[in-house]
Amino acid sequence: MKSTGGSDAAKRRAGEAAADTVEPGMVVGLGTGSTAAYAIEALGDAVDDGLDIVGVPTSFGARQRALDCGIPLRSLDSVDGVDIAIDGADQFVRDTGSCLKGGGAAHSREKLVATAADAVHLVVDETKLTDALDHPVALEVLPDAHTVVADAVRSLGGEPMLRDAANKDGPVVTDNGNLVCDVDFGTIADPESLATQLSAVTGVVEHGLFIECATTVSVGTADGVSTTT
Ligand code: 5RP
Repeated sequence: MKSTGGSDAAKRRAGEAAADTVEPGMVVGLGTGSTAAYAIEALGDAVDDGLDIVGVPTSFGARQRALDCGIPLRSLDSVDGVDIAIDGADQFVRDTGSCLKGGGAAHSREKLVATAADAVHLVVDETKLTDALDHPVALEVLPDAHTVVADAVRSLGGEPMLRDAANKDGPVVTDNGNLVCDVDFGTIADPESLATQLSAVTGVVEHGLFIECATTVSVGTADGVSTTT
């Protein structure tokens, strides 16, 4: 698994803090990435100890990890609702509650599951905290649309870059068979407005800007974890 950001110990603390809040009978959205993976592992241990839950994975990777951990799984279209989604982020602004996701190219399904959930528990290490979002924004793009989308985001002031697969010739292909375009907008002054503009670009399946993204946030640090609701 590709791991970015802070220490594994900090990520583990954040993931385990979120897993601790899950109650018997819940349907749980299982996020993607190295921090959410710690939550999945902790939930797997709890299932071993008798916790009765159902997981809804947000990616092939999350599904695989949950299967390995023995968590019973369902697809989003086969459950009545999701009680809580647990997921990571690439950057998070505490004051506004906005975040950037998509480092693992799974943001479309992550947003789908988060939108369906009654509660979203964001799990990050402290390196993800920022005063303003300034990472490139990940766009999942229909393959035929990538040049058209690149032109459209340039007209919005962004600098697009097709994401290349590590150690392979060719681009990253998402679980949905699409491409990922990372768009550098510098510091994003108005995430909500940019989110609206990106959603309106034909060929963009979903973007990685999440506005008011969580009901609870656990931030793991070198020596502890703080949880805010
Ligand atoms: C995947 C994501 C991840 O949640 C995000 O990239 C954070 O990953 P990590 O916890 O490994 O730093 O959005 O699409």
